[in-house]
Parts: sequence; C-alpha cells; structure tokens
Amino acid sequence: MKTIFSGIQPSGTLTLGNYLGAIKQFVELQNDYNCYFCIVDAHAITVPQDRLKLRENIRSLAAIYLASGLDPEQATLFIQSEVPAHTQLGWIMQTQSYIGELERMTQFKDKSEGKEAVSAALLTYPPLMAADILLYNTDIVPVGNDQKQHIELTRDLAQRFNRKFNDIFTIPEIRVPKVGARIMSLQEPTKKMSKSDLNQKATIYLLDDAKQIEKKIKSAVTDSEGIVRFDPEQKPGISNLLTILACCTDQSIEDLEAKYQGISYGQFKQDTAQAVVRLIEPIQKRYHDMIQSTELDNILDAGAEKASYVANKTLAKAKKAMGLGRVKKKK
Ligand code: AQP
Repeated sequence: MKTIFSGIQPSGTLTLGNYLGAIKQFVELQNDYNCYFCIVDAHAITVPQDRLKLRENIRSLAAIYLASGLDPEQATLFIQSEVPAHTQLGWIMQTQSYIGELERMTQFKDKSEGKEAVSAALLTYPPLMAADILLYNTDIVPVGNDQKQHIELTRDLAQRFNRKFNDIFTIPEIRVPKVGARIMSLQEPTKKMSKSDLNQKATIYLLDDAKQIEKKIKSAVTDSEGIVRFDPEQKPGISNLLTILACCTDQSIEDLEAKYQGISYGQFKQDTAQAVVRLIEPIQKRYHDMIQSTELDNILDAGAEKASYVANKTLAKAKKAMGLGRVKKKK
C-alpha cells in the first residue's frame, strides 16, 4: 500500500481553502493509502504566535481533522512537535539545502516582504517540511497549489541526499485537487485565501456561522459583466465563487455555468453561501462534540507513538548514512 503524508499549520482558524485544497482530499484518500496527517506546529512558530492561541489552534485543528471525517483507525493523526524525529531530520535536511534555493521560495518572499525582523526559521522551513514528508517513506503528498514549490524542493533534497550518501529516501509525488487547489481571497481574488489574512471579510473560516458566511459571500468582490462564467484572468471573483460552489456540491464548473445562465450574481452568491453552509455545518457539529473530549487526546497520543516508530527508523538510517553518532565496540 502506498503512503501519504500531509500537514497543516495551526497558525489560525482553518479556512475553506485549507478544507477544499487539503482536508477534502485527505478524507477521500484515507481508505486506499497508508496515511499520516500531521499538525505541523513547529512550522507555525516560524512567524510569531501567541502561546495560548497556538495551543488552542493545535487542538482545534486536531478536532477539525476528525470532524471532517478522518478516521483514526485508517489514518495516523499526530502533532509534529510530539515526534522529535521531525526537527532532527529537519536539521539534517538543512545541511543539504542551499541558501540561494531557499531564498527563491515564493512563500518565504511573501512572508518576509516588508518585515523588519524575519526569523531564520522562516527561511529554513522547507527543509523541515522535507523532513516531515521523507520520514514516512511517503509516495504521495496531497496539498493545495501553493505548496507545489516546497514539494519540488523536497524531491530535490531527497535526490541530493540519496546520491551523496545512500538510497534512504523515497522520492514523493505531489497530488493537487483538479478543482479547488487554490481558493482565492473573497476581497482580493487574485490572492489566495489564507488563515493569517488580516482582513476577516476575505476569508471563510471553517468555524464561521451561517450568517457570517452569507455576509462574506454577499460582499465578495466580483465584476460588472453580470454573467456567471469561469475566466480566472478577467473574472477572478466570479471564477473563485464558481470553484467554491463546484467543490462544495461536487458539480463541474461547466454544468454550473450552464445552470446560472441568465441568473443574477445575487442569486448565484446566495446559492454559493448555502452550499458552503451545508458542507460545513455537519463538520462544525462534530467539531463541538470533539474539541473537549479526552478521546481526542487518546487519538493524538496513539498517533504520536505510531508516527515515532516509523520516523525514528528513517532518522536512524539517515544518520548512519551520514556518519553521525558512533558504532559501539563489541566486547
Ligand atoms: N487558499 C487555498 N486554497 C487551496 N488550498 C490551500 N491551502 C492553503 N490555502 C489554500 C492548503 O492547505 C494546506 C495547509 O496549509 P498550511 O497551513 O500548511 O499553510 P499555508 O499553505 O500557508 O496555508 P494558509 O492558510 O495560507 O496559512 P498561513 O496563513 O499561516 O500561511 C496545504 O496543503 C495548502 O496547500
């Protein structure tokens, strides 16, 4: 059985983009693959975090994973910082990375732009992400479009390591959804929807209530053409809403374009909002049942134990291949 690894940062409340680009795929794939889904909290601290909020976001993300339908019997769910092999292999992967290639990462450029003090970890985040993936002999990484560059770097680093030392790492493939790989901001539809966007109106959070969702979609930026058609260049706002509606209702964009011929943007927005609410309301209900439960802790404990077992084996092989540590003398 092939192995899947993916992670999400607990850097805020999860967005509809995180769900459609990542979690929806996780749920669809869990029965057919050996899956590891991680809460990558060590990545979240590459930018400043409030300590109590971070704790809350970690637990909330675990509850969202489960509420979305991830089954702990099928998939291993765990917190990155509870499996120390991640940061240990992360260091090793840093030694195989060049500053130039890390500086070329779009996410680094976006997140460091205009900032006075940028942590070194923001630059070295991709080698840690490579370690996350490589520890589990991962074949496939399901992610949204924005992570493509990091997965390509992971492949380069793994190949570089294998060539220099020994054939330790499996070279992973990326998997992005056909529709929904890049959900855009509702207010600036040429920019991706992000959990750390300061403009709350730009983002649908998975924990927003029906009224908030309706309000946000109603005020989403569109255009004056008045025709519901998919054209991300000329009509990024309407195209984004079409993508959201298609993903939430499992219909094709073409079918939706035909259905909304001659129908106003107002009605189209109302239907899109209703589709989002229908999708996320049951998730929210399960979330509220799960968030305070001890079952959640048991699942995460078991996940960390299972993940550590596999991760420690790969880490030991990588260390040995590089000559780290020692070989004990036999008596
Ligand atoms: N807008 C999006 N559309 C589709 N997929 C998305 N993902 C993120 N935004 C969108 C996918 O969600 C997964 C988790 O992402 P992450 O938390 O590791 O970091 P990110 O990609 O940087 O996500 P955010 O929401 O933009 O977080 P912040 O604001 O903290 O940087 C990934 O698979 C990602 O592709």
